[in-house]
Amino acid sequence: MRILITGGTGFIGTQLCQRLLQEQHQLLVLTRRPEQVPGPIEAIQNLDQLDAALYFDVVINLAGEAIAAKRWSEGQKREIIESRVNTTRALITYFKRAKRKPSLLISGSAIGYYGLGEASSVVDAGAPVDEDGGGDQSFSSQLCQQWEAIALEASELGIRTCLLRTGIVLGRGGALAKMLPPFKLGLGGRVGSGSQWMPWIHIADLVGIIQHCIANEAVQGAINGTAPNPVRNREFVRTLGRVLGRPALLPLPAFIVRLLLGQMGEELLLAGRRIVPRKALDGAYRFQYPDLEPALREALGK
Ligand SMILES: NC(=O)c1ccc[n+]([C@@H]2O[C@H](COP(=O)([O-])OP(=O)(O)OC[C@H]3O[C@@H](n4cnc5c(N)ncnc54)[C@H](OP(=O)(O)O)[C@@H]3O)[C@@H](O)[C@H]2O)c1
Repeated sequence: MRILITGGTGFIGTQLCQRLLQEQHQLLVLTRRPEQVPGPIEAIQNLDQLDAALYFDVVINLAGEAIAAKRWSEGQKREIIESRVNTTRALITYFKRAKRKPSLLISGSAIGYYGLGEASSVVDAGAPVDEDGGGDQSFSSQLCQQWEAIALEASELGIRTCLLRTGIVLGRGGALAKMLPPFKLGLGGRVGSGSQWMPWIHIADLVGIIQHCIANEAVQGAINGTAPNPVRNREFVRTLGRVLGRPALLPLPAFIVRLLLGQMGEELLLAGRRIVPRKALDGAYRFQYPDLEPALREALGK
């Protein structure tokens, strides 16, 4: 197949490209720096460069300013939104002028779509949330709602559209790399009350779910990219401590998270709902890493 990927140079995109190359697909990546893309992958800097006569079977849309790289100033929030919205709009513009439209768009989104749930200080009863769950007014939820709404314009053009609501992706790099330093110093521990959910997924399964979307024409709309056994923060850190052979005894109080990271800490670290991958399970997707400890061991080479 010919596959166009935005964000193909990122943490998820790199693994995805490797896997798709192994399966002999032809890949074109949209990137701000085409020179960094290794052959045989082709690269372009601007979707306007695409000839209307070119055909892609599948388009995968992952590009966007990193969510957790910097404190959420108003300018950074704008960059986080615009980098996603503008890329997705440019894809829709390209689809409109393409002589033959792709059969499938898989567009990134995140479990942030489902919002904060109960306030982080309250113990969440932990009712599972599947793809029918709703969002709220939080920044993460509004971002995902906006990003998804534009992607869904592809379905009005007759393109099957999947919205990949991704959880915390575990692999070499990404969120896990950010969690490691305090643990390695023996300073790891639960964040806030530790009762917030952390829906995670091993990167091999996220790539697997993308392949599942490609292979199954019945899959469309929102699909959660999360493992079937999400855990609360306190269990996540305990398991991570065990895998690293380091204790996880030093809690990070919520007020410090709020002080250091502001709204970003509130939404990304102190809140979390129990998201479950109902659609992937209903579609008989078989998870390679349904449980956290083996997923962490593989991701950390332990
Ligand atoms: N990793 C996770 O745990 C996770 C969880 C939930 C959702 N997601 C979503 O999944 C997508 C991919 O995640 P990832 O972890 O692979 O992200 P990543 O490593 O940060 O890569 C994102 C890609 O987007 C492009 N990009 C970055 N900033 C940009 C900007 N300001 N304007 C235009 N393009 C920009 C970059 O491509 P170039 O530098 O080549 O232009 C980069 O390769 C993201 O949209 C992310 O929000 C990820």
